[in-house]
Amino acid sequence: MLEFGSMSHAVVDQATYTPCLAEACTESGKFMKKAYFVTGTDTEVGKTWATLALMRHFQNQQMTVAGMKPVAAGCEMLDGELKNEDALLIQQHSSVRLAYQDLNPYAFELPVSPHLACARQKLDLSHILECFSKIQQQAEVVIVEGAGGWLAPLSEQYDIADLAKAMDIPVVLVVAIKLGCINHARLSFEAIQSAAVPCVGWLAMCVDPEMQMQKENIQTLEKKIKAPLLGVLPYQDEMRVDDLEKNIIREKLI
Ligand SMILES: Nc1ncnc2c1ncn2[C@@H]1O[C@H](COP(=O)(O)OP(=O)(O)OP(=O)(O)O)[C@@H](O)[C@H]1O
Ligand SMILES: [Mg+2]
Repeated sequence: MLEFGSMSHAVVDQATYTPCLAEACTESGKFMKKAYFVTGTDTEVGKTWATLALMRHFQNQQMTVAGMKPVAAGCEMLDGELKNEDALLIQQHSSVRLAYQDLNPYAFELPVSPHLACARQKLDLSHILECFSKIQQQAEVVIVEGAGGWLAPLSEQYDIADLAKAMDIPVVLVVAIKLGCINHARLSFEAIQSAAVPCVGWLAMCVDPEMQMQKENIQTLEKKIKAPLLGVLPYQDEMRVDDLEKNIIREKLI
C-alpha cells in the first residue's frame, strides 16, 4: 500500500497516533492516510481527466473516494452560487455527496489566473485545509486537483506549490504528451523536488493523436523524470473514465 509522511504503515491504531490533516478515519476506528495532489505541466493538460481516473482507480479497489478542487477560476452562477465545471465533475464522481463549498472553497468567475480572478478576495490557506480535513473525514482517499501548473499563482502570496505543501500530501504530475513536453515536465519535476514535496509519480496524458514519436517521447521522459510512470492514458475523442483508469498501473499506485 502506498504510504507517505512519517508513518510506515497505511493503517495505524487510533490510540497510538495523533491524526494530522492527511488522514481519514475508517469505520473500524483506524486512521488511513491517503491523499494525492494532482498537478500538471500547464493548464489544460488533462489534470481533471487524470483526477477522475485516479478517483475511479481507488473506487475500483473498494475504497470510498472524494475529490477536491480547492481553487477554481472560470465559474458560472448555478443555484445562486458560483460553480466550476471541473469541481462539478469531481463532485459527481465522488463516492459520497460532498457540499460544494467544501470541495471548491474558492470559486472565481473569470477564467484567468486565480490571483487575478480573485478580485481581491483574500485566499486563506487554513480555510482550504479545514475543508480538506472535512472531506477526509468522509472518504478513505481524497484526490485534489490543483489549478494551472506547479508555480501558478493563487494569490499575491501563494502559488499552487504552497498549497500542495500546506496540504502535506504527495503529488502526481500530469504531463500532456505533446511537442515541448519534455522541457515542461523536467522543469515541473525539478520545481516539485526543490519544494521538497514528494512526487509519487507522473501520468502521461496523450492529448495529441497526431504527435510524432509519442512512444519515444514517453521513453525519454521515463529516463529523465526520477519518479515512476504511473500510466500512459490514451487519447480519447470524449472522456471515458473507465478506459482511462484501466491504464493506471495498479502496482505503482495502490
Ligand atoms: N486523454 C485525453 N485524450 C484526448 N483529449 C484529452 C485527454 N486528456 C485531456 N484532453 C483534452 O484536454 C482538455 C483539457 O483537459 P482537462 O480539463 O483535464 O485539463 P486540466 O489540466 O484539468 O485543465 P485546467 O487547468 O483548466 O483545470 C480536455 O477538455 C480534452 O479536450
Ligand atoms: Mg481541470
